[in-house]
Amino acid sequence: MRTTVLVRGVAVKYDDNDRLVAFGDFPTLETARLTLREMNLDDDEFYLSHCSDPVVVDMMARDAPATIDLARRRLSTYCIDPFRENTGIRWGIETRDERKLIGTIGYHDWVKERGYNARMGYDLMNEYRNKGLMTEAMTAAVEFGFTGMRLNRIVIHIDRRNLPSQALARKLGFTYEGTLRENAYFHGRFLDDMVFSMLAKEWRRP
Ligand SMILES: CC(C)(COP(=O)(O)OP(=O)(O)OC[C@H]1O[C@@H](n2cnc3c(N)ncnc32)[C@H](O)[C@@H]1OP(=O)(O)O)[C@@H](O)C(=O)NCCC(=O)NCCS
Repeated sequence: MRTTVLVRGVAVKYDDNDRLVAFGDFPTLETARLTLREMNLDDDEFYLSHCSDPVVVDMMARDAPATIDLARRRLSTYCIDPFRENTGIRWGIETRDERKLIGTIGYHDWVKERGYNARMGYDLMNEYRNKGLMTEAMTAAVEFGFTGMRLNRIVIHIDRRNLPSQALARKLGFTYEGTLRENAYFHGRFLDDMVFSMLAKEWRRP
């Protein structure tokens, strides 16, 4: 029998194994320097410029949206709709001091009863990299994945060339499992994806 709990009037549903299957209110997360918050269509200018960052384009293997309308469509598809449809969640990463949106992080490909796992993705604006900010955001998001969503396994696919992201995954305690050889194709070449994972029983908050 499924359990339904009301959080501020919105139904949160857990299945027979006490795992989350439907979100309630959007879970805003706070860290020392960041707020992880729900995104909306007013974030379109940020999203257009963020998705046009050459490193983000290259590491996500997705061309920049050509117009603001296409950026809005992608923002809906990847950052807004998944939470509303209970298929995943994407937070906007905002600085607490300036309240400026500087990146995104979240879960997609959420598998419920048949595995209790999800894929994690993240990206940060160029000028905010290498300050430990994604370590902070990931710590909060992983904690929510294991405790809030009650996932058993979190997976990250990382391009073989993406050394900062591999360092980040290892630092958080993810294990390298192997490589999906030539798993992606972008701009005329095949790319290797390295698979990293963490299980709930392995999670140690840094
Ligand atoms: C990957 C990304 C999110 C990392 O964010 P970040 O805030 O810079 O991460 P942090 O500062 O918390 O940690 C990065 C780590 O990588 C290390 N690093 C940075 N550049 C590196 C390099 N060229 N080689 C090896 N390690 C590197 C840093 O030293 C740091 O580790 P440390 O804290 O042990 O010193 C950011 O680079 C990014 O947004 N890149 C573009 C999008 C992307 O690649 N997303 C991930 C897709 S899987």
